[in-house]
Amino acid sequence: MKDFKDKVAVITGAANGIGFAVAQECARRGIKIVIADIDGPDLKRAERQLKEEGAEVLAVEMDVMKYEDMEMLAKEALEKFQHVDLLFNNAGVVVAGPAWLLSMNDWEWIMKANVWGVIHGQKVFIPIMLKQDTECHIVNTSSVAGLLSLNGMSAYHTSKFASVGLSESTYLDLQCETDKIKMSVFCPGFIQTDLDNCEKHRPKKYANDMSQPYYQSDLYKKEEQQKHKVIKGGMPIDTIGLTIFEAIEEEKFYILTHSELNPLIGLRVKNVFEGGSPSMTVIKGIK
Ligand SMILES: NC(=O)c1ccc[n+]([C@@H]2O[C@H](COP(=O)([O-])OP(=O)(O)OC[C@H]3O[C@@H](n4cnc5c(N)ncnc54)[C@H](O)[C@@H]3O)[C@@H](O)[C@H]2O)c1
Repeated sequence: MKDFKDKVAVITGAANGIGFAVAQECARRGIKIVIADIDGPDLKRAERQLKEEGAEVLAVEMDVMKYEDMEMLAKEALEKFQHVDLLFNNAGVVVAGPAWLLSMNDWEWIMKANVWGVIHGQKVFIPIMLKQDTECHIVNTSSVAGLLSLNGMSAYHTSKFASVGLSESTYLDLQCETDKIKMSVFCPGFIQTDLDNCEKHRPKKYANDMSQPYYQSDLYKKEEQQKHKVIKGGMPIDTIGLTIFEAIEEEKFYILTHSELNPLIGLRVKNVFEGGSPSMTVIKGIK
């Protein structure tokens, strides 16, 4: 897709961070924007700012973890703008810690938001795009954490490897079905957003019992500090919207942001086909 004027974009997790950066890039390109987010007050602030920047915006408070919310989002988007041309399945959260110490609520929250959120988005919007039979593009936000593994991030890696697999396979299925719907998977390294404070977006249903030993442990505190350090020390966000849109223009499937991590992705693949094991070199290259 190269001509964006008057196209309609739906963006989940659009009230902050990467989703908001994408929305701002949409505004610059004259795209009508549907911003969706679980955080009502942040969504209102984002809506106000985008309108000040001249965009035509619809804000929908919703939870990507709920299929019925995704259906409601599509209904509202179509009622307002009649078509959807771009979909960004972007909303996501992070929890840190070893697989066996995380609570079932941690696992369910992260898998519901990071994997089921994308499943819901694709399931609702792809049939709409197929029916439209117009040029469309879908971008699923995964992470470089979907292409290589670190310690202390088991649940995040599980969710992001899943979203890479889901995106690759959906891309292939779409190729068998139509040449009109293109797809990309966004796999950034650390970017300066508020992802490290995503606990505030955790629904009560998935709340942790903080008196449990892991959440009182030094290990938990260390993992939390590490989370803040790597996200706040990440790449500035200002170029991210442009990077994603240039990839859409070029119909690039894998969108990466940190070229210095590419050899570590290569090392993981080398370990796979040479019968090796997950490598601490990969970890040292990142943390
Ligand atoms: N920041 C990074 O370093 C980084 C790196 C790789 C991948 N990512 C991915 O980028 C995506 C966006 O994260 P970000 O860094 O912009 O974080 P962020 O916390 O700044 O923004 C995420 C937005 O998603 C919303 N959200 C959370 N749960 C939701 C739900 N259930 N339903 C609807 N909205 C929900 C939040 O309210 C928030 O506005 C995530 O999928 C994340 O995993 C981020």
